[in-house]
Amino acid sequence: MLKRDATGSAMMGGLRLCDLLDLDEAGPGGERVPTPAYVYDLDAMARAARELSAGFGGAPHLVAYAVKANTAGPVVRALAGAGCGAEVVSGGELAVALACGVAPEAILYSGVAKTAPEIDRAIGAGERGILALQIESVEEIPRVAARARALGRRARVSFRLNPGVEADTHAYVATGHDEAKFGVALADLPAAWEELARAGDALELVGLGAHIGSQLTRTDEYLASADAMLALCAQRIASHGALSFVDFGGGFGVDYGAGCPVAPADFARAVTERVARSGLGGLRIVVEPGRSMVASFGVLCARVVMAKRSRGGEGERRWLMLDAGMNDLLRPALYAAKHRIEPLEGPPPAPGAGKGFRVVGPVCESSDDFGEHPFEEPLPRAVVLRDAGAYGYTMASEYNGRSLPAEIFVAGGRVVAVHRPRSAAVWVAERASIGQ
Ligand code: LLP
Repeated sequence: MLKRDATGSAMMGGLRLCDLLDLDEAGPGGERVPTPAYVYDLDAMARAARELSAGFGGAPHLVAYAVKANTAGPVVRALAGAGCGAEVVSGGELAVALACGVAPEAILYSGVAKTAPEIDRAIGAGERGILALQIESVEEIPRVAARARALGRRARVSFRLNPGVEADTHAYVATGHDEAKFGVALADLPAAWEELARAGDALELVGLGAHIGSQLTRTDEYLASADAMLALCAQRIASHGALSFVDFGGGFGVDYGAGCPVAPADFARAVTERVARSGLGGLRIVVEPGRSMVASFGVLCARVVMAKRSRGGEGERRWLMLDAGMNDLLRPALYAAKHRIEPLEGPPPAPGAGKGFRVVGPVCESSDDFGEHPFEEPLPRAVVLRDAGAYGYTMASEYNGRSLPAEIFVAGGRVVAVHRPRSAAVWVAERASIGQ
């Protein structure tokens, strides 16, 4: 979480950001890391995971961290150290989770179009393969069964069901409704059971699950989906015997500045109570949080390159131009997400104070726009974009020939790792040399 010292200077994990970064345009370089740079507080991430776990009381559970939110080794290792497994959506993410010490038995693999080599890696991991490949369609069942036969293994699978629940969130991150490409629709479940029976010994169904969407700021829809899952688990167990887990998905919201009345542990407490009430108390509860484990514990730091004033129909407009753009943090451009932007070295303006500046990046797109934020004169030389620990670096690109952002990892009050991107010169050489 971003904190401020007595002078108002921004801090992460007990360190002043201005001491970590190279903020001079000419730059002393050296040890300091150039902007744009993400800074993460690993201890706070581990704490968030433990707080969520505590919400399950003594009930058997697995927090499968959705690696897509932040794939950096120090982050995955910190969360694994706090007891998390992993939810992955590609062969690459699976390999990262395994390389970071997550046990195969604690890994779930979702995704609507897993390739044969990806399926093989999941089935082939460790002694018995991963905890479960999440089946997202009837058509996927024979594909996974064929790979299991080819490898001479029995693959553990779970069905990711689409419960038809409309999550109250941005359309791009709502996944549990009827129009989404994700999961097996309830109407297709009978066909899925038949296909599973045809797969015979190649597959072992170990769980049922759903993930209805992301950035949920109330529990209602999550619990509606959970109830639907529990009813289906009860039916399946009655007809075919034990399942080992029920997976309620991720999606726990965070406070991006407009508030978030529910904490991840509130979801955990609520579903634990539902499971107990359903009479399926022996069933292990799985959740797949990504954002809520990391978003609030990462910031993106950027230098202010310059300010600009322009006169138009609506009068004067004030712009603040950063050295970070949509290639570094895509969420505002893609989802109209608003991340709070504050001075890095001084306190943010008091509520209602300051003038509104449109904060933009250098990328040649109108959507490279972080929205309007208040600033006071004199303008800061650097800013922090808050709550950028999730879906920040993982969605970054080299668009416009820009380097990827740097990353700094803080734990125990010190910098424990720095990731410097490959230099722009390497990008130039690679692109220019194609076909030469
Ligand atoms: N499980 C599955 C199957 C998912 O598809 C997702 C996210 C998660 C778990 C984790 O959801 P979370 O706890 O992070 O909400 N790039 C977007 C978010 C995309 C979410 C995709 N799936 C953003 O920046 O808001």
